[in-house]
Amino acid sequence: MKLHFKAASLGLAISLATAGAVADVGQDDRVKLVLEPHERHLVLLEMRNFLQVVQTITDSAIREDMKTVAEAARSMGSGAANQIPPETVAKLPETFTMLAGTVHTTFDVIALDAESLGDPMHTMRQMGTLLQTCNACHGIYQVATEPFPALKR
Ligand code: HEC
Repeated sequence: MKLHFKAASLGLAISLATAGAVADVGQDDRVKLVLEPHERHLVLLEMRNFLQVVQTITDSAIREDMKTVAEAARSMGSGAANQIPPETVAKLPETFTMLAGTVHTTFDVIALDAESLGDPMHTMRQMGTLLQTCNACHGIYQVATEPFPALKR
């Protein structure tokens, strides 16, 4: 019984490792964006707003409330007030700003299509594409948690 369990968990560990899910346990090899604490706060705040809007769009699309889909998507589109100051943007790598730009323009298209087509399934397909961009960036970058003034020794 015990052996059975061990064999099963070994199998699971191997399949997870093959999938890359548990590779490099305890080590985050993603590129570090070194930001000041207040800049890190603004970037992460924007991220949480992204997730909030993803929720609103998903909820609204399944209720076929395309007006709310369009409003929510537009609030994160390229015309939305940019919360990240230019001096912070200047510190971000080109690939990062390009992927961020893709997210904003995808929200633009989601808003326009929600208004002109009013097709929730189309919106959800666009959300699938949008989330690929979120995941692509998350796979490449992390925000460095140092140097934090309070942690300097
Ligand atoms: C241009 C790169 C980029 C894109 C695009 C991106 N993110 Fe992020 N996101 C990051 C980085 C970097 C972090 C910090 C990760 C870390 O340090 O581990 C982050 C963190 C987050 C967090 C955690 C916030 C917190 O308070 O800790 C959420 C939620 C999130 N992203 C949601 C999203 C969603 C949803 C999308 C797509 C709509 C998205 N992100 C697109 C780079 C990106």
